[in-house]
Amino acid sequence: MTKTILLVFGTRPEAIKMFPVIHALKADPRFRVVTCVSAQHRGMLDQVLEIAGIVPEHDLDLMRPDQTLDGLTAALLTGLGGVMDAEKPDWVVVQGDTATAMAGALAAYYRKVAVAHVEAGLRSHNIYHPWPEEVNRKIIGTIAALHFAPTTTSAEALIAENVPAAAIHVTGNTVIDALQWVSARTAADPALASGLAEIEARFAGKRIIGVTSHRRENFGGGLEAIAEAIRQIAAREDVALIFPVHPNPNVRKVMDAALAGLPNVAMIEPLDYPHFARLLSLCEIMLTDSGGVQEEAPALGKPVLVMRETTERPEGIAAGTAKLVGTQTARIVTEIFTLLDDKAAYSAMARAQSFRGWPCCPSYRGALRACRVN
Ligand code: UD1
Ligand code: UDP
Repeated sequence: MTKTILLVFGTRPEAIKMFPVIHALKADPRFRVVTCVSAQHRGMLDQVLEIAGIVPEHDLDLMRPDQTLDGLTAALLTGLGGVMDAEKPDWVVVQGDTATAMAGALAAYYRKVAVAHVEAGLRSHNIYHPWPEEVNRKIIGTIAALHFAPTTTSAEALIAENVPAAAIHVTGNTVIDALQWVSARTAADPALASGLAEIEARFAGKRIIGVTSHRRENFGGGLEAIAEAIRQIAAREDVALIFPVHPNPNVRKVMDAALAGLPNVAMIEPLDYPHFARLLSLCEIMLTDSGGVQEEAPALGKPVLVMRETTERPEGIAAGTAKLVGTQTARIVTEIFTLLDDKAAYSAMARAQSFRGWPCCPSYRGALRACRVN
């Protein structure tokens, strides 16, 4: 009998990591696939839906300017619960650790609907770094009946929390499937990623550093220190920084105040996924506090300096492609300058591409077949 699978997501990174799963499930006639977006993000979510060709059956349109965690979570619970009551899914699938994913799992639990968790088992073991994601994913982990762990490390973290091994599937990270899919699309149609041409021409001959930053735990002093680091790095004439700025007003106001008008900093709107993949290929170094970028940059052999105190993604660090540099201005600047000026240090990070324990294979499709077992 056909099973109804309800996939719930709401932000840019969830959409990127869910679309390969949605494509795979839709190709399988055993499933009736229903997608519900909370639209916790709006413009950044829509960019992904468009490139991935996904038209959600339900769109809660919940984003509000500078939304609070409690206001958002309350709206998510009632909105997602209503969709579940209408669709009566056999399984609810959530991804990652956002408010949407946590509320989706909780609303399903309140209805005793089984939950499958994509990107399960990431743990920093610090509930304030990242905040509130560490607690969100632990809540989901408590509820889920199926855990799709991207790596053996994440599977082990779940086993340490007494999740039965039979409920865990090590699947690889679906961001790698997304990146490969979008790279193939762009190879077939280069115009999909040609929108950076003007910036590329303006910065010809410069060494490109890609930047992203948006973490809630860095709001205020942390972001100001990051902005100051970018300003000091930009004082070098040989570099250019391309910085698609997250639309969160708490990020924008700090970055605008510190960086507007600097000739070799391009602060631009969020890039759609083909253009961000282009930025990843153009840059010499990524400087970021993003989760997804910590996974993508190592896959492409690009050194990534992670502006966080801790990470739930130790694989890139272990492989030597990623390095935690915190959020102190002096440390960030020193680490960037080392990579720019020390060829051996750079090639040690750029060469390391070991994905041992980080299989990038689309076996989640096989794992999702377990959804038939109710
Ligand atoms: C959210 C997730 C975070 C994830 C990040 C990815 C939570 C609590 N946080 O953080 O885990 O890493 O997304 O980017 O779930 N905004 C827009 N347009 C958009 C998106 C956001 O204007 O397309 C602005 C709005 O003012 C919105 C604010 O950004 O209120 C914050 O969005 P929100 O989803 O609450 O948090 P993020 O910081 O994006
Ligand atoms: N990304 C994008 N455009 C941008 C910046 C990032 O498409 O301008 C993609 C990036 O490739 C990665 C994801 O967004 O797959 C990461 O999202 P974000 O940093 O917002 O969230 P996090 O991963 O930290 O939860």
